Amino acid sequence: METRELGAGGPEVSVVGMGTWQTLDVAGGRDDVVTAALDAGSTFVDSSPMYGEAERTLAQGLGDRRGEAFVATKLWTPDDAEARRQAKRALEFYGGRVDLYQVHNLVAWRKRLTLLERERDRGTVVAIGATHYSPSAFGELAEVMRTGRISAIQIPYNPDERDVEREILPLAQDLGLGVVVMRPLGGGRLVRNDPGAAALEPLRAFGVETWGQALLKWVLSDPRCHVAIPATSRPGRMRENAAAGAPPWLDDEARAYVARLAGARA
Ligand SMILES: NC(=O)c1ccc[n+]([C@@H]2O[C@H](COP(=O)([O-])OP(=O)(O)OC[C@H]3O[C@@H](n4cnc5c(N)ncnc54)[C@H](OP(=O)(O)O)[C@@H]3O)[C@@H](O)[C@H]2O)c1
Repeated sequence: METRELGAGGPEVSVVGMGTWQTLDVAGGRDDVVTAALDAGSTFVDSSPMYGEAERTLAQGLGDRRGEAFVATKLWTPDDAEARRQAKRALEFYGGRVDLYQVHNLVAWRKRLTLLERERDRGTVVAIGATHYSPSAFGELAEVMRTGRISAIQIPYNPDERDVEREILPLAQDLGLGVVVMRPLGGGRLVRNDPGAAALEPLRAFGVETWGQALLKWVLSDPRCHVAIPATSRPGRMRENAAAGAPPWLDDEARAYVARLAGARA
């Protein structure tokens, strides 16, 4: 598993991590998936109070291996008291430390950043970030990036969602911000349209064995992206995704080929 700095001078993170939206929002647990992620070196894990039970099931899955993980989660509420409750709960879940604490969907971002800066001063938060899934909010996200108050962003990027190439990725690079990529498999839609083994043949020299790996390598072959966080409910797929986190990376031609395969089947 390759690691990259999450922004200039930032902490080292695994290039393939794991998202938890829907997949870890279960009543019992998904310890097997979390264990598969850690065992495969996908130590960057991302959650949110927006994802129902996911923060709790992630904490349960990490168990006494919490120290091996880089835990990213989020504040997501317009209500100040609820924000404090969310932070208290997350810090209890994750052994008193959140490695990357993000403002989810930019909700009340000025006030939430103040709360997170206070936690960082207390040593409970390592890095602060902001996320948004929609291109309609990228103008506001750019404003937050320019404040100097965050060191990482989380944005969608895959062959079918390339809006971040216009302003957000160049700005992140200029500012030295870390980039976490959500929806690297197009939320499942892209990866379901598997073009088949024969179409993947030209990508084998790049260590690609499956269509999911082609899509993940497409993201990570852009050096401005530091970690992709595919979500899965299946341990085998977690191992498959993690295996995409090693070089060789795609060259421009191979990357264009993957985009064509994705576009042709979207
Ligand atoms: N901040 C935000 O606004 C925001 C928004 C969206 C997402 N996110 C974060 O980003 C993470 C990833 O995004 P996402 O969950 O929307 O989409 P994604 O990771 O692009 O796709 C997840 C889907 O792909 C399937 N999948 C995973 N690996 C696969 C493989 N190797 N082969 C075939 N299918 C595979 C999963 O199904 P199975 O479970 O059946 O494998 C799941 O349905 C989220 O979990 C969340 O942590 C953040």
